[in-house]
Amino acid sequence: MHHRERLVEILEATGVFAPSEIDVALELFDEGMRSAESYELMGVFDEHGALQGYACWGPTPGTDGGYDLYWIAVDARAHGGGYGSAMMRAVEELLRGRGARLLVAETSSRDVYAQTRDFYERGGYVERARVRGFYAVDDDRVIFSKQLAVRAGEETP
Ligand SMILES: CC(C)(COP(=O)(O)OP(=O)(O)OC[C@H]1O[C@@H](n2cnc3c(N)ncnc32)[C@H](O)[C@@H]1OP(=O)(O)O)[C@@H](O)C(=O)NCCC(=O)NCCS
Repeated sequence: MHHRERLVEILEATGVFAPSEIDVALELFDEGMRSAESYELMGVFDEHGALQGYACWGPTPGTDGGYDLYWIAVDARAHGGGYGSAMMRAVEELLRGRGARLLVAETSSRDVYAQTRDFYERGGYVERARVRGFYAVDDDRVIFSKQLAVRAGEETP
């Protein structure tokens, strides 16, 4: 199966993404497959070579070493099995090697994302801000970040 079809399966099976969000995820995937300039991709595969999850990130324009994690999803049947954290560690290592400073991940305050917020916190991400009512009434934008490197003179977070 082509990665893109498998990706649709993975995104749908999470049960948290609306069809319009899946469309955006696929747009970023297509753009990332075309050029790694703005959107970069990483897949995680099982021992049979089947795609089990992916991450999409890119440099945040206008920042000194800032990156945004745009998407991360793991097949629902494999949640809690370590694929997501293995992928995050690999992305962070790759970015550190490139001199990246900060990785920002955003999610929603809805209950269905409670495990996602735990996932970020377990991975060393710190909630830095919330934009109340951003996605919808009673649905805040929750902004996490992780310091990947500390620049000279910068206070350790
Ligand atoms: C968030 C997500 C990518 C994590 O991937 P994962 O492979 O399930 O994560 P891991 O197995 O590495 O779990 C690490 C931590 O995530 C949390 N977690 C998230 N979902 C979990 C689940 N279904 N079961 C158990 N732990 C879960 C736990 O805190 C876990 O820590 P622990 O293993 O020390 O208990 C995955 O759950 C997912 O695809 N969620 C739906 C999509 C989503 O919310 N994406 C982010 C959009 S902003």
